[in-house]
Amino acid sequence: MCSLLPLLPLLLAWTRVAGAVDPTMPFMEYLDQDRLVCLKWGFDNLQGNITFQLVVNSTGWVGFGLSPNGGMKGSDIVIGGLGPDGSYFTDRHATGKSTPLVDEQQNYVLLSMSENDGQTIMTFQRTIKACDDKDFHITTGPIKLIYAYGTTDKIEYHMSRRGTKEVNLLNYMPRTVPTSSNYLSAQMDKFTVPAVPTYYHCKVLQFPKLNTKHHIYQIEPVIENKDVVHHILLYRCPHFVTQTYEYKCYVGDVGDTCFHVLASWGIGGAVFEFPENVGIPVGGDNNNPFYRLEIHYNNPESKAGITDSSGLRLHYTAQLRQHDASILNAGVLVRSPLTYNIPPKTSQFRTYGICNTSQFSQHVNPVPDLHVFAVLLHTHLAGRKVRVGHFRDGKQIGFLGLDENYDFEFQQTVSLGSIKTIKPGDEIIVECTYSTADRDGITQMELATTDEMCLAFLFYYPANKITYCASRPNTALLPTININNIASDEYETLLKALPQVEIALDNDFQESVFPNGTMREMMKTPTVACQNNNASSRLCTSWIVNHAGILLLFLWFALM
Ligand SMILES: *[C@@H]1O[C@H](CO)[C@@H](O)[C@H](O)[C@H]1NC(C)=O
Ligand SMILES: *[C@@H]1O[C@H](CO)[C@@H](O)[C@H](O)[C@H]1NC(C)=O
Ligand SMILES: *[C@@H]1O[C@H](CO)[C@@H](O)[C@H](O)[C@H]1NC(C)=O
Ligand SMILES: *[C@@H]1O[C@H](CO)[C@@H](O)[C@H](O)[C@H]1NC(C)=O
Ligand SMILES: *[C@@H]1O[C@H](CO)[C@@H](O)[C@H](O)[C@H]1NC(C)=O
Repeated sequence: MCSLLPLLPLLLAWTRVAGAVDPTMPFMEYLDQDRLVCLKWGFDNLQGNITFQLVVNSTGWVGFGLSPNGGMKGSDIVIGGLGPDGSYFTDRHATGKSTPLVDEQQNYVLLSMSENDGQTIMTFQRTIKACDDKDFHITTGPIKLIYAYGTTDKIEYHMSRRGTKEVNLLNYMPRTVPTSSNYLSAQMDKFTVPAVPTYYHCKVLQFPKLNTKHHIYQIEPVIENKDVVHHILLYRCPHFVTQTYEYKCYVGDVGDTCFHVLASWGIGGAVFEFPENVGIPVGGDNNNPFYRLEIHYNNPESKAGITDSSGLRLHYTAQLRQHDASILNAGVLVRSPLTYNIPPKTSQFRTYGICNTSQFSQHVNPVPDLHVFAVLLHTHLAGRKVRVGHFRDGKQIGFLGLDENYDFEFQQTVSLGSIKTIKPGDEIIVECTYSTADRDGITQMELATTDEMCLAFLFYYPANKITYCASRPNTALLPTININNIASDEYETLLKALPQVEIALDNDFQESVFPNGTMREMMKTPTVACQNNNASSRLCTSWIVNHAGILLLFLWFALM
């Protein structure tokens, strides 16, 4: 097998094919070093299928496959092209280094085939889960992709026109290395971490002045003490925050009003790269250069004497991208007087928060669509599942995020398999499922790692000024009950039936409140029939386990 991987860092990292991003195929990688073979792809969990587009600088046959080890043997292959007699396309498998054999069952569907400017463009689809044990199973781990092509439409030995590349199709993260020394640094400066289990430190800092607008396109974590740095958030400050300082978070300082998330990192996360058409704006006239860096130090053993200079580097460019991106924080309102607790000794307790975009018109007019391209889910230690439902006209139309195996230790921003559009009036419901089976006392909805949260950070474009959108059941209307005398599922149902106090906030710290909201029913996580040309196909679940999540927190003495 030819080894291209060691050379990759030399390729100036990831310049991409120009052109608009297809919302159904947001991902792209060159499979070869010479950039003659390009793969675009996207997937939809709800429909359970994955779409590929292979673009090869050749007008001969083109081949693409999923391989167990990077070689041909045992691989699942498609070969196609546009020849004198029209297009051809077959699903095949290879038993060795010989022409791949045509499968009895054709499980790939050709969507289109064309030639243009010396390139062959082949678009095809399959189900994510294979029905047939002989088909390659696309999993959430890295997969070895192979390609080959000919110079004519006669399918014969490809000679050196072949290669392999490992890509994680379902949890895609571009393999990036920081590419510039142009970065804004948001880091602590030899901060002495207090010897307490949970501590949130806040530093309001001022970025150097950038006279014109720039775009942040990459967020690089700098983690000095991996054992205690649990999450990092960087927030924009409203215009009235004009002084730097550092202090404990959320004790009533002016910096607590900085809450528009600009960048985030959670334990287990890596460098995050924005899609090629978007960047987070910084600099220019209308930009307050003050930001609040928040680090959650999780120090369960209360070790003393740790000093820390962790933080984030925000790589930026003056070459502006098509859209400004932003992050909307949705979920269950944190630190509200309308509090409730999660009962102990239950293996499944669900909380719900609704973001009602009907409120956005009180902040921006007209309300633009929000095109969501990535999501970061956040709970604390008791979190087991997070689902983000997307509702239109009162009906659920899909999910914006889903993690059925939530892992607190592994939180990262996950790019969506296809770009989802939130329209004005849509509702976003974040459902978190907790297990407190091993706890003897109640769990509060609060800031500490041993408390709970339920949040989704939605990365979207074009940016608007709404920063936060969440709800709480109006527990003031709850009859007095003793949490120890009620079954946990009954308590869950009672809370869900209460009117929801729905809140939206913008980056001027203006809030709108709708006090009488309702919680909607979320659909079961669907299972999708795997597709082959046999009508009596089996059912198989196609949901992807996206490890995601991160942290967050909130204020809210300010509210209500
Ligand atoms: C591949 O073909 C496209 C379209 O003709 C061309 O723009 C591009 O430069 C070619 N790439 C290489 C590496 O030759
Ligand atoms: C993929 O999903 C679409 C729904 O948009 C459906 O029409 C199509 O048949 C599916 N394709 C496969 C191969 O399952
Ligand atoms: C909310 O509902 C209550 C009870 O139905 C009603 O009295 C109140 O006027 C409503 N408030 C708003 C702002 O709609
Ligand atoms: C969303 O807010 C609007 C008012 O802004 C309200 O009429 C509607 O009932 C709310 N939807 C839900 C599901 O709470
Ligand atoms: C379709 O699948 C069923 C059950 O797996 C099997 O009995 C049948 O022979 C298959 N038909 C074809 C045409 O493959």
